[in-house]
Formats: sequence, structure tokens, C-alpha cells
Amino acid sequence: MSKVLVTGGAGFIGSNLVDQLVQDGDEVIVVDDLSMGLASNIPSSPKVTFYEHSITDHGFMKDLLLKEQFDYIYLLAAIASVADSVARPYETHQINQEANVFILETIRQNKLPVKKVLFTSSAAVYGNNPELPKHEDSTIDPLTPYAIDKFATERFVIDYGKLYNISTVAVRFFNVYGPRQNPKSPYSGVLSLITQCFKNNQVFSLFGDGEQTRDFIFIQDVLSALHLIMTNNQAVHDVYNVATGKQSSLRTIITDYQKVVGQPLQVKTITARAGDIKHSYADIAKLSQLGFTPQYTLLNGLTDYWISVKEDFLGEQE
Ligand code: UD1
Repeated sequence: MSKVLVTGGAGFIGSNLVDQLVQDGDEVIVVDDLSMGLASNIPSSPKVTFYEHSITDHGFMKDLLLKEQFDYIYLLAAIASVADSVARPYETHQINQEANVFILETIRQNKLPVKKVLFTSSAAVYGNNPELPKHEDSTIDPLTPYAIDKFATERFVIDYGKLYNISTVAVRFFNVYGPRQNPKSPYSGVLSLITQCFKNNQVFSLFGDGEQTRDFIFIQDVLSALHLIMTNNQAVHDVYNVATGKQSSLRTIITDYQKVVGQPLQVKTITARAGDIKHSYADIAKLSQLGFTPQYTLLNGLTDYWISVKEDFLGEQE
């Protein structure tokens, strides 16, 4: 049994990770300010302790790190919306970078015996670089405060680890989807928005011709990837794309999802979103070398996602 810290553990990816860690028998401490996540996402288990706190509260974080002496640390807490980061660049920086550097600094200064620290970055660091697929060493082109801080923090995490002999690693998530993804903002992940449209019989606004492609990865595959990266001693002081290596167009996805739900999606086509990239998918050779193979096709992932939405929906009606 390990003691694990998950910052951002009430969010979409974080709370699914907490579920998995609890199933694996770990003791989990969650720090989340609920700015995006929900307390109800966190499993109620004697193995989980939840602190409703911002990671920017340095005094709190230092006390927690010294007291708990974590084995593993997952850094997921962030302003997760690119649009939000453009509206609040300095606050983004304090959360997405500074708070994480402070955690590293606390580990360094106090020689904390952490086995590994994993930082979660994003494919947004590749920006408009047209090279496909995106390799970890492809040109970086961070275009927003979100992408800048994600990239800078990757570097901090990796180089701090090398300089001060702390086991660290970073991942770049591509388009993750699955249960508990929050569809509240127009900038939410497209699959959460489509899901919401199916659920509430709303019209989905398709930006552009629908031929744009993304590398969509189901949350369970993300959890397998994180587990491999966290537990493999070779995966250290490095960055890994977390994706499937396959590109799917929005049109294909809509067709597949309609099959899963068994009803047509109402679609309104509007002008392409400003700044949107046309195609994105990852080279996952590095992750594959650790033994990763995605287990979920889009059809399987969408099926599980839809089942979870229907269960919640029926739960709400009871
Ligand atoms: C992701 C980020 C985005 C960031 C970009 C840069 C998420 C949810 N989005 O965008 O903030 O700027 O990476 O790397 O992490 N779409 C529609 N209708 C909608 C919403 C989206 O047609 O209502 C389309 C978009 O135009 C896009 C595709 O769906 O072509 C996917 O959109 P999205 O889920 O936002 O992901 P990214 O574009 O990869």
C-alpha cells in the first residue's frame, strides 16, 4: 500500500485516478479547491482524505507534504481551460506553474522521500506546429498562458528532478474523454458537449466541416498509461505523449456515437472556431515501449461513457 497525493483529485481525470488508486489499495489524499471539480466526484472511502484547498496555499501544502511523506505525487490541479488562462494569465501562472514549483521546492529542501512525482501537461504545448504525428521532441509552440505554463512546468519538473535527484516525470495528454468530464463551458471537451446534447436533446454546434481530426483517448486507457509511467523506473526525467496514436474526424465520431446512443444527433454547422488546428494526433512510440497498448476503440469508449451518463441520469430521476 502506498500513500498518494492527487492534486486536482475532484476533477474529471483526477477523480477517475483516485477511484483507480483506491481499488489498487492505496491511501489517497486529495487537494482540490473545487473551482472545476466536484466533491461528489471523490469516492467516499476510508482510504481517501479530501482537503478543499488551493494548491497555491503554500503554507498548507508544505505542512501537508511534511506531515504525510507521500510515496507518489500526481500533479493534476490546474486552470484546465485554455480560454480561462487567456482571461486570467497571472492567476493561471500561479496555479499551473508556481504552485507546482513550490511543491518541488518543498521536496528538495526537506529531502522528502517521494518515490515519484508525475506532472500532467498537454498537447497544447505543440500549438500550431503542423508536423504530424506529434513526437515528444517535435517543435514546441505554446501560444497561450495555459500552454506556456504547462511547457515551462514540464521543464521545471524534469530538470529539477535531474538537478536534485528527485524521481520526476511529465505527460502530455491529448483529447481525453469519459465519465465525469465537465460539459459546463463552451470550451469543454467536444465529446462532453456532444454527450450533453444527446442527453438533453439539444442541437450540437459543429465548427467547420467536421473533417478536423483529434487523438481521442478514453479515460481508462489514460489511467493504464499513468500507472505504467508511475511504476516503471525507466520512465524518469522525461515526457510522454498520452494518446492512442490514432486520429478520428469529428464526423466519424458523431456517426459512431449515434450508433452507441441509438438516436441521431441534431447538428448545426457553423464557421470553424478561430485558432482551431485542423489535425492532431500523437506518436506514442515512447509510451508503447513501456508496454502501453490502448484497450478502448472509440466505439467501446463511447459505449462506456454513454452507459455512465445514463446511470447518472436515472439516478437523478429517482
Ligand atoms: C484543445 C483544448 C483547447 C486548446 C487546444 C489547443 C480542450 C477541451 N480543448 O482543443 O482549449 O485550445 O486543445 O491544443 O482541452 N468543436 C465543435 N463544437 C463544439 C466544440 C468543439 O465542433 O461545440 C470542435 C472544435 O472546433 C475542434 C474539435 O471539436 O475542432 C475538438 O475540440 P476540443 O474538444 O475543444 O479539443 P481541441 O480542439 O483539441
